[in-house]
Amino acid sequence: MLRPLIMGNWKMNGTLAEGRAFVRQLCTLLEGSSNVDVCLCPPFTLLQEIRDQIGLTAIFLGAQNVHHADKGAFTGEVSIPMLQELDCTYVILGHSERRSYVGETDAMIARKILAAQSWGITPVLCVGESLEVRDNGEGERHVLAQVRNCLDGAQAEPLVIAYEPIWAIGTGRAASTAQAAQMLKAIREALVSMYKDAGASVRLLYGGSVTAANISEYLASEYANGALVGGASLQAEEFASIVRQAETVPCITK
Ligand code: 13P
Repeated sequence: MLRPLIMGNWKMNGTLAEGRAFVRQLCTLLEGSSNVDVCLCPPFTLLQEIRDQIGLTAIFLGAQNVHHADKGAFTGEVSIPMLQELDCTYVILGHSERRSYVGETDAMIARKILAAQSWGITPVLCVGESLEVRDNGEGERHVLAQVRNCLDGAQAEPLVIAYEPIWAIGTGRAASTAQAAQMLKAIREALVSMYKDAGASVRLLYGGSVTAANISEYLASEYANGALVGGASLQAEEFASIVRQAETVPCITK
C-alpha cells in the first residue's frame, strides 16, 4: 500500500489570525504523528504565513491553483516558481469549482500539470462527474476521459489524483465506499494501462463530504490512498481526527 495522504483544501476560507491559530492547534494535536502525509492548501494569501507556522513539522504545503506560465502579463494569476519560493510541494489542479465557476477545461488543466511537473511540484488532479452524468450511466467514461485528457503528455511522477464526485462536494452526501472504490479502481486501471508499473505508485484520493465520521470507511478500501478534505479541514480537531485515523492504515513508506 502507498503512504496515505490527507489534504485539507480550505478553499476561500481563512484569515491570517485563523490560519495561525489553526496550525498551532493542529501541530499540538498531531504531535508524534507518523506514517501519513498531511498537506494544508490555504488560499494564496495565507501560504507564506502557514509556511512559517508549519516550520520544521512534517506538514506539507499546497496551493489551490496555479497558472501554467512561469511569469508574464497574466493579471490576477500566480506562477509555479512563486509557489516554489513558498515551499509548496503540491498544487490542486482541475477542481470542479474551478471547472464550473472559472471555465477551466481539460486542455487548460493539462498545460498546468505539465508545468507543475516540470518544476517538480506535485499536481493533485481533481476529476469527478455530475449527478446528471452519473445517472445517465456515463460516470466512469466521463471521469476516465478527464484523466486521459488532463494527463496528455504528463508523467506518472510526481502526481496525485483526487476523485471528487461533484454531487458529493459540500453537500454532506458523500459517495458510498462502494461508489468511491469502483471509480478509484477504474482510475487505477487506466493509470496502469497508461504508465505500466509507474501507474501503480500514483496516490489516489477520495474527496467529497469526507469527515472524521466516515474517513475510516474510505481508507479501509484498498483503492483509496487518502482524502482531499474541504469543509472538515477547517476545524483543527476534526482534521486531526481524520489524520489520526489515516495513521492506523498499514502502509509502506515510499
Ligand atoms: P467538502 O469536503 O467540503 O465536501 O469539499 C470537498 C472538496 O471539494 C475538496 O477539494
